[in-house]
Amino acid sequence: MAIALALLVAVGGGCRRDMQDTPRYEPYEASEFFKDGRASRHLVPGTVARTQLYENVALVTGKSKSGYVEALPVPVDRALLERGRQRYDIYCSPCHDRAGTGAGMIVQRGYKRPPSLHEDRLRGMPVGYFFGVITNGFGVMPGYAPQIPVDDRWAITAYIRALQLAQHAGAADVPDDARAALDSAPPLTPPGGADGEGGESHQPPAGGKPANEAPPEGGAHGAS
Ligand code: HEC
Repeated sequence: MAIALALLVAVGGGCRRDMQDTPRYEPYEASEFFKDGRASRHLVPGTVARTQLYENVALVTGKSKSGYVEALPVPVDRALLERGRQRYDIYCSPCHDRAGTGAGMIVQRGYKRPPSLHEDRLRGMPVGYFFGVITNGFGVMPGYAPQIPVDDRWAITAYIRALQLAQHAGAADVPDDARAALDSAPPLTPPGGADGEGGESHQPPAGGKPANEAPPEGGAHGAS
């Protein structure tokens, strides 16, 4: 290449040449400079194109030509939902809380409260929308593409759907073979009210801080 350039400078030195006409090889152009007659060199073995993933646009963006993807582009099974729950609990519950109502610990400490994932507007959103929010962020919420790989973003999306269903399911949604167990199960809330301390509550009360988490009035920061 250096030789070719030197020759060009020597030969064409006298005449004016605009920059857009810079001598160069186009992709796949023939060249006598290399033994195989091609200007393009072979890729280094193992080279991965940065845009290779984008071959499946719906999978990596949550959008197709007609808008947000309506159906999960990955097979949904128990393993996916388990993975989704685990990733959701790690990455999302600090703000959205484990049930998705939006009262996570960071919110209790002053961060903007996200909308409940169970509000009608969000229940009506296609799965691709949630994938997009996780990928790109939304408002003050940062995007999680750098931390959460594509597969896990879909797993979380699938789990959000499960959470939404769980908050709006009726007895009719329980499979027939499990209905009997449901009927004989004790009531969820003990007659004396919710058990205050200790229990692993997955659902903080909507619209407020759980009493045992609210910092004391005067502030007791010196104690910690
Ligand atoms: C640091 C806190 C925080 C974390 C962590 C977080 N979010 Fe959010 N999220 C927010 C806030 C705050 C909003 C509302 C943003 C706004 O309105 O400016 C929001 C909004 C949303 C919305 C609603 C968008 C809409 O249309 O209103 C969805 C869906 C969502 N987040 C999903 C997730 C998922 C899934 C995760 C985990 C991968 C996650 N978030 C992690 C704080 C967070």
